[in-house]
Amino acid sequence: MTAVALPAPAQSARVAHRRRYLMCAPKHFAVEYAINPWMDPTRPVDTDLAMAQWTSLRDTYLALGHTVDEITPEIGLPDMVFAANSGTIIAGQALGARFLAPERQAEAELYRSWFEGHGFAGVVMPSMVNEGEGDLTWTGQVLLAGSGFRTDVAAHPEAQELFGVPVVSLRLVDPRFYHLDTALMVLTPADESTPAHVAYFPGAFSAGSLRVLERLFPDALLAGPADAEVLGLNGVSDGRNVVLPAQATGLAEQLRAHGYEPVMVDMSELRRSGGGPKCCTLELRG
Ligand code: ARG
Repeated sequence: MTAVALPAPAQSARVAHRRRYLMCAPKHFAVEYAINPWMDPTRPVDTDLAMAQWTSLRDTYLALGHTVDEITPEIGLPDMVFAANSGTIIAGQALGARFLAPERQAEAELYRSWFEGHGFAGVVMPSMVNEGEGDLTWTGQVLLAGSGFRTDVAAHPEAQELFGVPVVSLRLVDPRFYHLDTALMVLTPADESTPAHVAYFPGAFSAGSLRVLERLFPDALLAGPADAEVLGLNGVSDGRNVVLPAQATGLAEQLRAHGYEPVMVDMSELRRSGGGPKCCTLELRG
């Protein structure tokens, strides 16, 4: 009997997991102040276009089988659409936010009370500046914690103490990548047997932080400047489907080559405030 050559198995069978997300419609979205280099208050944004892009992001999650909760947008808080900054939730424990910019500070209490009312009682509020999942990224094993522009380094041990998980501090050095979630994303969280699979843009990190990333994630996907500059690292993965800014075509190719399914969404109008798909999305981990 002659051996039959079977097709090579897909390099990895990526498995999608259902997620629960919190989002906030950009009803009052505007760029009225500049707290990052993407924001230019002299160029008015198209709120209707932002709403259309945001709606298609939400509908993309729903089509992928995820659950999306929505918090009511508040007039006078044009950045409230960026739900990722409002806290960090791991295993049902919520850590709220404390914003650096005075213009955003009122968002923290609105989200805190939403968490309290929707299954996340016992929210702890940080005493140091802490912009939630903008700077804190749970890999399933460690909490990566950015600093340099927004979240205070002293917020990192505060998060470690609350969650009882190891926190790894990373220093951001390029003002265009002012939050950790503009420079790094988890593609597959760690489980008991495998470390997390991540993608990041090396140019956003200090030399020492880069060495930490190389040590922790030797098989990470490294994004180039062209993808980073369209906020391509600001994606949302369910372990298989990776929702990415439409312009991040190089990263999409890399993902495909590694067995992921890139799902492209155009967030160009929200990018004018420095945000992409991940910024608009907070994961509610039950
Ligand atoms: N304009 C907002 C700010 O600068 C954008 C926040 C984007 N959010 C994020 N998770 N990176 O605060």
